[in-house]
Amino acid sequence: MAKGLDVGTMNILCSEQDGNSTVFAQQRNSFVEIEYSEMAERMLSQSEVLHIRKDDKVYVVGDDALNFANVFNKETRRPMQNGILSSDEQSAIPMMKLIIEQVVDEPDHEGEKLYFSTPADPIDSDLSTLYHQKTLESFLDDQGYDAEPVNEGMAVVYSELADNSFTGLGISFGAGMTNVCLSYYAVPVTKFSVARGGDWIDQQAAQATGTPVDKVTSVKEDDFDLDFETDVGGVEGALSIYYENLLDYVIEKLAEEVDEEDIEEGLDVPVVVTGGTSSPEGFEELFRDHLEDAEIPFSISGVTHAEEPMYSVSRGALVAARSDEEESGGSSESGSSSTEETEEATNGRDAEVERNEGRRRRARRSSED
Ligand SMILES: Nc1ncnc2c1ncn2[C@@H]1O[C@H](COP(=O)(O)OP(=O)(O)OP(=O)(O)O)[C@@H](O)[C@H]1O
Ligand SMILES: [Mg+2]
Repeated sequence: MAKGLDVGTMNILCSEQDGNSTVFAQQRNSFVEIEYSEMAERMLSQSEVLHIRKDDKVYVVGDDALNFANVFNKETRRPMQNGILSSDEQSAIPMMKLIIEQVVDEPDHEGEKLYFSTPADPIDSDLSTLYHQKTLESFLDDQGYDAEPVNEGMAVVYSELADNSFTGLGISFGAGMTNVCLSYYAVPVTKFSVARGGDWIDQQAAQATGTPVDKVTSVKEDDFDLDFETDVGGVEGALSIYYENLLDYVIEKLAEEVDEEDIEEGLDVPVVVTGGTSSPEGFEELFRDHLEDAEIPFSISGVTHAEEPMYSVSRGALVAARSDEEESGGSSESGSSSTEETEEATNGRDAEVERNEGRRRRARRSSED
């Protein structure tokens, strides 16, 4: 077997193949720090919440952090910022390690292949992704995996452009970043990221309207459409303005970064957009319209939206891991049906999506033993 891991600023998702389905385990990449008390410890243990105690503090991590932040009137904290480990967060490394351990679980054999997503260096900030990438690689290797990084934009190409010989432009609009990769027959020709994504939209809209950021995020995620029929002056109006601004910014950088010579003459390039930030109704159309109006130095055949924007990076990392596993001899379990299964993963859209709730709960229990 092999695994694909999407390590995102907001969400961490691991996928693996189970027969004809791709199974996902997911956790929110956040935590909350609570003062230790017997009462708090009892509450957490009774509700099977993923947590660890360190001295006089208890840390609740993952999806449960949000609920407990509300109960204890605390702010959630995030181990990553702008696509990489946060240098402002002292507990970043132990918290990430814990969340990743829960999501990936034990390898089924020593040296199981695991591909994890990693962003390209951003072109608009001096952040480097190397430390982040090497730290993750060492967590995963320590856990018994044979871990390899895969560029996040390239993972989008693996999951969404199999039918086009892995040729085209994959764009992942995440929380901390937007990652772009142009691939030509599965070879990344150009890749870059910008340090702006959903978090940037939320911060700008919050500042403009004097609304708390968490409130803006929940308005955006709950019932926001990019139909431009929303209130001018309200949060939705501000979200629309910054959404448009982000799209124009990404398109401007795309025009600057992708060289005409990178593209074979006469080739029309398909573009796929994905990531949580691409979720609102109207996103694909807005991106298409703005791309048409821009002066891009190559021809585009069309813009499509991944069917499951939250899952495509993890799914693409799994395609890469499985293909590597096949090349290096395959696992003992893959047997004669392994080629078919790889095709299934490659055309992953048909595969049934399940959230691996059961495994998450099991993982939680074992952390408390
Ligand atoms: N329904 C929705 N409508 C709008 N935005 C959404 C929706 N659901 C999630 N988001 C936003 O998508 C972002 C998270 O997306 P995603 O999980 O792709 O990012 P990530 O991979 O964690 O981050 P990154 O790749 O930047 O490190 C957040 O900004 C979140 O607010
Ligand atoms: Mg992402």
